[in-house]
Amino acid sequence: MGTALRFTRQDGHDMTQDELKRAVAAAAIEEITPLLGRDTIIGVGTGSTANFFVDLLAEHKHDFLGAVASSEATAKRLRDHGIDVYELNHVGTVPVYVDGADEIDAHFNMIKGGGAALTREKIVAACAERFVCIADASKRVDVLGGFPLPIEVIPMARSYVAREMVKLGITPVYRDGVVTDNGNQILDGYECLFEDPRAMEQRLNNIVGVVTNGLFAQRGADVLLLGTEHGVERHT
Ligand code: 5RP
Repeated sequence: MGTALRFTRQDGHDMTQDELKRAVAAAAIEEITPLLGRDTIIGVGTGSTANFFVDLLAEHKHDFLGAVASSEATAKRLRDHGIDVYELNHVGTVPVYVDGADEIDAHFNMIKGGGAALTREKIVAACAERFVCIADASKRVDVLGGFPLPIEVIPMARSYVAREMVKLGITPVYRDGVVTDNGNQILDGYECLFEDPRAMEQRLNNIVGVVTNGLFAQRGADVLLLGTEHGVERHT
């Protein structure tokens, strides 16, 4: 079910994508505020939408203990704001994880990893009681796959994984020059729509040398805050 929250631009101009991202980040602050307390550690994602969230979260930094970050970039941004960053192994579970997506469907399955942070994102999401996805309306799709599917691979397995992807009908393209926070490489998968993302996530996981694939279906989002021209829609 979707419910529209506040926020409409009054001057008649189309809102920019950044304005939509900022709006959903602000809605995420409202979403998590009831969870904040002296001992609370929250999970924070990666990307431009997550960056807006981090910047707004900084205004509440005295209301919670700290954060677990899904990338080195986010950890730095949090620390620059004076928010303590904790190692996930010392935290266990987090009550909430807030992150963006490259695509999200009606069942809250996602493609993530455009920023190459998919592995740590999937790990933090796995440890989160609730996944709040923040996205502008351009990310909402009927079928995943318009956005190339990122796959993090062990470097020596890159060619092998690429050949296995072709067998699954996915066209691999090496993201040249990108090294993940885990020291691995990224193959982006083109020309495939994912009608059954959960099954494909499992199949890709079974390829030797794949560290993580960017289909987030087995653990999708629980809440979607979607930035539209008419306001931020909350979907659960
Ligand atoms: C990074 C991600 C991001 O969540 C995704 O790429 C969306 O990014 P943005 O908010 O910049 O559009 O998965 O690995």
